[in-house]
Amino acid sequence: MAEQVKKPLKITETILRDAHQSLIATRMTTEQMLPIVDKMDKVGYHSVECWGGATFDASLRFLKEDPWERLRKLRDGFKNTKLQMLFRGQNILGYNHYSDDVVEYFVQKSLANGIDIIRIFDCFNDLRNLETAVKAAKKEKGHAQIALSYTLGDAYTLDYWKETAKKIEDMGADSICIKDMAGLLLPYKATELVQALKEGSSLPIQMHTHYTSGVASMTYLKAVEAGADIIDTAMSPFSMGTSQPATEVMVETFKGTEYDTGLDQNLLAEIADYFQPMRDEALKSGLMSTKVLGVNIKTLLYQVPGGMLSNLVSQLKENGAEDKYREVLEEIPRVRKDYGEPPLVTPSSQIVGTQAVLNVLQGERYKMITKESKKVLAGEFGQTIKPFNPEVQKKAIGDTEPITCRPADLIEPQLEKFEKDPVVQEYKQQDEDVLSYALFPAVATEFFKYREAQQTKVDPKAADTDSKSYPV
Ligand code: CO
Repeated sequence: MAEQVKKPLKITETILRDAHQSLIATRMTTEQMLPIVDKMDKVGYHSVECWGGATFDASLRFLKEDPWERLRKLRDGFKNTKLQMLFRGQNILGYNHYSDDVVEYFVQKSLANGIDIIRIFDCFNDLRNLETAVKAAKKEKGHAQIALSYTLGDAYTLDYWKETAKKIEDMGADSICIKDMAGLLLPYKATELVQALKEGSSLPIQMHTHYTSGVASMTYLKAVEAGADIIDTAMSPFSMGTSQPATEVMVETFKGTEYDTGLDQNLLAEIADYFQPMRDEALKSGLMSTKVLGVNIKTLLYQVPGGMLSNLVSQLKENGAEDKYREVLEEIPRVRKDYGEPPLVTPSSQIVGTQAVLNVLQGERYKMITKESKKVLAGEFGQTIKPFNPEVQKKAIGDTEPITCRPADLIEPQLEKFEKDPVVQEYKQQDEDVLSYALFPAVATEFFKYREAQQTKVDPKAADTDSKSYPV
C-alpha cells in the first residue's frame, strides 16, 4: 500500500482580530488578551491575526488605547508565533486613499512594531491599489499576502480568478487569500475556485470566510481537499455566527487524515476556557447580540454581507422607513451593477448601501448622490470589473473627466504635511503618532489629549513640568 503523503493543514487564529470585530464590535481590550498569549504561543498556529482591520480605529475611539502599544505588547508575548494584520491597500486602515509615502511609512512601522504577515486587499480587487503596500512589505522583509475580495456576478468567472492569481504572483506577493467576507462561497464552488487559483499560480492559498450563511465549515472542508494550505478559524467561544468556524472543530475534523494539523486539543480547551467567561459576559451585557450568532440566509438571497444588513436596518429606522427594507434590498444589486459590480466590502459596501437607501427614500433613483458615490464614479477608488453605467456616471460627475490611472498617482505626498500639523507637533510622543493622526485626525487628537491627561494624573511631579517631556 502506498504511504499516505502528509500535507498538514495550517491554522490562522482570528480571535484577537476578526472574531471579536465580527461578534462584539471590536471591543476586546489588550488587557483581556495578554493573560492568554503565553498559552496561545504554544499551540503552533501558522499565525495569529491580531491587528489591523477595525481594531486600530476601535482602540483609539472606544477603548482609549494606543493601537501601537497593543501591537508591541502582543509582540513581546508571542515569542514563537507569527503575527498577522489586515490592511486595506491604499486606504491603509481608513476609508480614503492615501499618498504612497503614508502607505509606505505605515507598512514599515507595522512591521517594525511586530507584524510578520500583512494581508492586503482592495474593495474593487484593483491590484494597482495594492502595489505600494506589497512593495513596502517586501522591502522590510515581511510576508505580503494579497487577499481577493470574493463576490458573485457574471464577470467573476473562474478564468478571471485564475488570471488574477497569475498577476498576484507576478507582483511579488508571497501568498493569496480568498477573502469571503459575506460567507457567500459555497462548498462545491470552493473546490472550483481553489483549483482555479492553483492553476493560475504556485503561491500558497489561504481561505478566509465567515459563518454568516451557515456553510463555512463545509466550504473549508472542500477547499482543503482541493489544495488550500491555510484556513482562518476562531476559538469556539468567539466562533460561528458572523465570525469564523471554530478552531477546535476544524482541528478535530482533519485529525488522522493527510491534513492533520497536529494541534493539541487539550491546550486548545484550556484557551477556550479562558475566553468562555468573556463570551458569557458579552451576552449578558448585550455587547454580543443573538442576532449575530444564528444563520442568516438573507445573506445568500441578497448577496449582502451580514454587517451591511444591520447597517441598513438602522439607517431605515433613523428615517422612520423600516417598511422600505425589502425595496432597499432589491435596490442594492442594481446600484452595484451601475457601479461596475464591485465586491461589497469596506468601504464599497457602505457606499453602495447608503446610495441604495437614498434612491428608495427619495422616490427617484440618483436624485441625490452621495459624495462617496461621486468619488467612485469619478474613478477615485480605482477600476471595477465592469464599466460604470454611463448615464449614472454623467449624473454624478457631469462633464468632469474620470480618472483612469492608479488613483494614488494623483495624490501628492502627505507625510510631511501631517508631521508639521500643529496637533502632531504638540502631542507627538512616538513616531507612530503621526500615522494615527493621518488616518483618524479627530479621533487621534481626542486620544492624544486623553493620554496626556492620564499621564498627568499618574505622575503628580510631572504635572508641574512641560507636558512634552513625559516618558513615552
Ligand atoms: Co473577515
